[in-house]
Amino acid sequence: MRVTVLNGPNLNLLGTREPELYGRATLAEVESLVRAEAGGLGVEISWIQSNHEGTLVDAVQALPRSADGAIINAGAYSHTSLALRDALLAVRVPFVEVHLSNLFAREERRHHTLLGDLAVGVITGFGPQSYLLGLRALHARLARA
Ligand code: DQA
Repeated sequence: MRVTVLNGPNLNLLGTREPELYGRATLAEVESLVRAEAGGLGVEISWIQSNHEGTLVDAVQALPRSADGAIINAGAYSHTSLALRDALLAVRVPFVEVHLSNLFAREERRHHTLLGDLAVGVITGFGPQSYLLGLRALHARLARA
């Protein structure tokens, strides 16, 4: 089973970026946690981070060739990117939307995402654990598909 983890803008700054919201773990540390969890599940991980919407759209378009499913934290593009939504609608690859922070405990403009209704499910508010919970949930979904 192959899973691509897609990280959007500013997630490369994890560790120093608003630690009261996002914690102190760097993105590389989150990646290590995900790879360790994936190893136990027999899942092969591709890890991508980009600050550029078009690069993320390209990565979504590549999913049918490269992955059985995806974990997606599109950062602020989750709330704004019709282009990412359209790409996900086009490829129809199962994905779990994850967020480190609890979107519903934040400003109202973050309560809605353009991706959530297309996802298998959304996990928000558990810090790096959101990725691990998302991976486990996606693995269970793909294993019974
Ligand atoms: C985020 C939440 C988004 O609202 C924000 O723009 C981010 C990070 C999260 O993981 O909590 O960049 O996706």
